[in-house]
Amino acid sequence: MGQLNKIDQNLLVNHQMQDFRLYIQKVEQKLCKNYLKQSFREMESYPQLYSKDRLEQFKIKYKDFIQLDVQKEIHCGIINLDELHIAAKLLQQGELVAFPTETVYGLGANAKNAQAILNIFKAKKRPLSDPLIVHVHDKNNLYTDKPDYVDQFAELFWPGPFTIVLKSTQLETTEILSAGTGSIGIRIPNNEIALELLKLANIPIAAPSANLFTHISPTSAAHVFNDFYDQRVHIIDAGRCDNGIESTVIKPLGNELHILRLGSLAKDTILNKINQSESLKHFAIKYENKYMQIEENEEDIEKELQDLQHLDRKSSMEAPGQFLKHYSARINSFILTFKSINAFQEIDINLKETVIIDFGSELRNRIANFDETKYKTLSLNYDAKEAMFNLYDLLRWAEIQQGAQQILLYDFDTEINHQILHHENILSLQDKIFRSASGQKIYYQNNKFYLCQ
Ligand code: TXA
Ligand code: MG
Repeated sequence: MGQLNKIDQNLLVNHQMQDFRLYIQKVEQKLCKNYLKQSFREMESYPQLYSKDRLEQFKIKYKDFIQLDVQKEIHCGIINLDELHIAAKLLQQGELVAFPTETVYGLGANAKNAQAILNIFKAKKRPLSDPLIVHVHDKNNLYTDKPDYVDQFAELFWPGPFTIVLKSTQLETTEILSAGTGSIGIRIPNNEIALELLKLANIPIAAPSANLFTHISPTSAAHVFNDFYDQRVHIIDAGRCDNGIESTVIKPLGNELHILRLGSLAKDTILNKINQSESLKHFAIKYENKYMQIEENEEDIEKELQDLQHLDRKSSMEAPGQFLKHYSARINSFILTFKSINAFQEIDINLKETVIIDFGSELRNRIANFDETKYKTLSLNYDAKEAMFNLYDLLRWAEIQQGAQQILLYDFDTEINHQILHHENILSLQDKIFRSASGQKIYYQNNKFYLCQ
């Protein structure tokens, strides 16, 4: 695999490295010498993407969703839907382009260009031990090994929120894309704009969710803007994503299909479909809850990244990306439980400073005296699919509410007497909610709150 195979393994998880920027610089020097100069040629060709008018229009359109730090300068470009050819060109040139998919927005880069890929990690402040998904539009060109069963999976689940991890055989950049594992996650997204972009660019596009590391995944262009407006990122403005949570990531191992990450394709849906397929029904589905702890009570993300460098390489590879603190809002989030188990310490929660994210009317029916302006429900009709669509959008809404100190989230472990629509999506919802709250639960009784262990 050419020069990239020669990466010093220690650089991916270097025990001595004290500073993330230094660490990235070192990888840059080692990996990207031949690619460095390719980027950044085209920007001046498209001044309209950076025009003041366009920026103002964007800010007005999303005024209720945008929160800017006035200390920071705006550097990003806004791409309109009739400019996908420009977006494709920018991607070919090594630029970062955020684009919609049916799940969440992705922060895309040319998967053949090591520097462009590295720029994704830099922009997100994401540790290099967390591999990227590669997006393609043609199932006959996956840039991986293609065992026979892959065509069957493609038939059943593509285009769609299904990512399959396969041994990468054709990309020189595999080392960095795969975080040293040699296997990459591949998917064909089910979104017209994404597919059109992939066709126009005609290159594989590496794209993690377009959010800063550990922040909530973005389901609209405004969310992407909030995280990257001060960086060199181009954002395609295309409304809200249909599904609202990420793709489901699976890895075939022998006769087992390991679900590495729950997502908007439900585990039960995969199970039902493969059971109906003669050539796939021998696969058993394996799913284990893996929550990797990263330093808690941590404000400074750079400090977190330093700590991540100390993760033992092996453990970081077993379940990459399964960090417990994921999808987190910028304010403290808790799951509100009505089971007293493990409740140990009363805590002071001012409901006037609290955003409540309900399911149906379960929390509304149980909590007294909350602030109506800081209350929303994931789905009034107890529809799990609608809840999935709204979850990240509401978490993003919650964190920018004035005076909000914390978010209380509905606990999907609580028994509900209502019929739940699209019940198969509950497992993924539970997982995302657990991670957004970093596993923190609060017990509520008689207007008092207790922290759970
Ligand atoms: O819906 C999605 O999957 C979105 C859109 C943009 O496609 N992308 C996304 O990417 O969520 P990201 O990087 O935020 O999350 C991908 C996760 C990684 O954190 C990791 O857990 C897993 O997928 N993953 C990716 N490649 C892998 C690999 N080669 N081996 C194991 N896990 C992998
Ligand atoms: Mg992500």
